[in-house]
Amino acid sequence: MKKMFAGRCAELGALPLLLLLLLLNAALGFKLCPNPCLCYESSDLVDCRSSGLVRVPVGVPHGTWLLDMSGNKLTAVHTKSFMGLWSLKILQMSNNSISTVQPQSLSSLQFLERLDLSFNQLRWIPQDFSQSLFSLLELRLDHNLLEHLGPASLGELENLRKLDLSHNRIRAIDVQGFSSLSRLSLLSLEANRLNVLSDGLLNRQQSLEVLLLSHNNISLIETEALAPLSGLTLLGLQGNQLDRIRFKTFLQLQTTSTGLQLSLNPWTCDCELQRVFSKIQHVRHLHVEDYKDIVCHAPAQQAGNSLASLDSQLCVAETASVLAITITVMLAVIGALVKAEHNQKNKQTASDAESER
Ligand SMILES: *[C@@H]1O[C@H](CO)[C@@H](O)[C@H](O)[C@H]1NC(C)=O
Repeated sequence: MKKMFAGRCAELGALPLLLLLLLLNAALGFKLCPNPCLCYESSDLVDCRSSGLVRVPVGVPHGTWLLDMSGNKLTAVHTKSFMGLWSLKILQMSNNSISTVQPQSLSSLQFLERLDLSFNQLRWIPQDFSQSLFSLLELRLDHNLLEHLGPASLGELENLRKLDLSHNRIRAIDVQGFSSLSRLSLLSLEANRLNVLSDGLLNRQQSLEVLLLSHNNISLIETEALAPLSGLTLLGLQGNQLDRIRFKTFLQLQTTSTGLQLSLNPWTCDCELQRVFSKIQHVRHLHVEDYKDIVCHAPAQQAGNSLASLDSQLCVAETASVLAITITVMLAVIGALVKAEHNQKNKQTASDAESER
């Protein structure tokens, strides 16, 4: 075979020789860099940042493990964009205008470990998005326009450790939405539009260490919602709509040490709230990190005061009113007794007088 090839080359001159060289180069893994990108480390790293690209360039070498396309003009990730890029481990597509991820577009990325789609225009996550991404460790979808997370959106990401969904418009998450993410250690849902933290949503997140929920519209944390989070070290709930909380909800956190961030909520400062905070502070593994910044919103006479500055006043007032009521009742009872006694005496005197007659 070789002999025949060489023979033919000699016969036909320089052009086939060039072809042969090209063939050999391809066979030996010599890689060309796709235009207009820059390639490093014999094309292991392909840098296409801010190059005005409107789609994934053709001819990315098969051995590439980092492809950076951030800051371009991509509007969609097309089907089969990454065909044959088996070695890809890091894929950066942040700061584009991506609004669509077509079906099958990520299906060849079985070894991908980091995917960055932050700062795009995604409104939803397609059904098969996660289908082949079983190696994914880190996923950034922050700063998009996501509104809803369905049960299958993140279905296959069983190895995922970090998930950033902050700065979207997420209002609702299916209760099964995170059910395959059992290895998750960081989940950020900051700056979304969540109203409730529901029971069951975090049932599989025993590995979760950091849960960031600040700057949502959360007014209710359901009683069992935090119970599964046995590894939690930080729970961020600043800037929500919490006016009161239940001690029982937080007591469910069976952790070794968890910091709670609860400032910038419209707290109703009454004796009940003061008691809840006081009890939380007394549980050894829970600590409110921003206790000094817990500021009252209601009632009107406490608005703007910090809960810490009120010390135990709120409950003193309550104790005082309980005392006042007790004293009033006691006085009434004593009054009644005295009156009864008096009547009794009167009757006695009257009947004595009668019998003397
Ligand atoms: C925020 O929550 C309140 C209830 O606490 C609700 O009335 C309001 O509509 C919510 N706002 C948004 C933007 O969801």
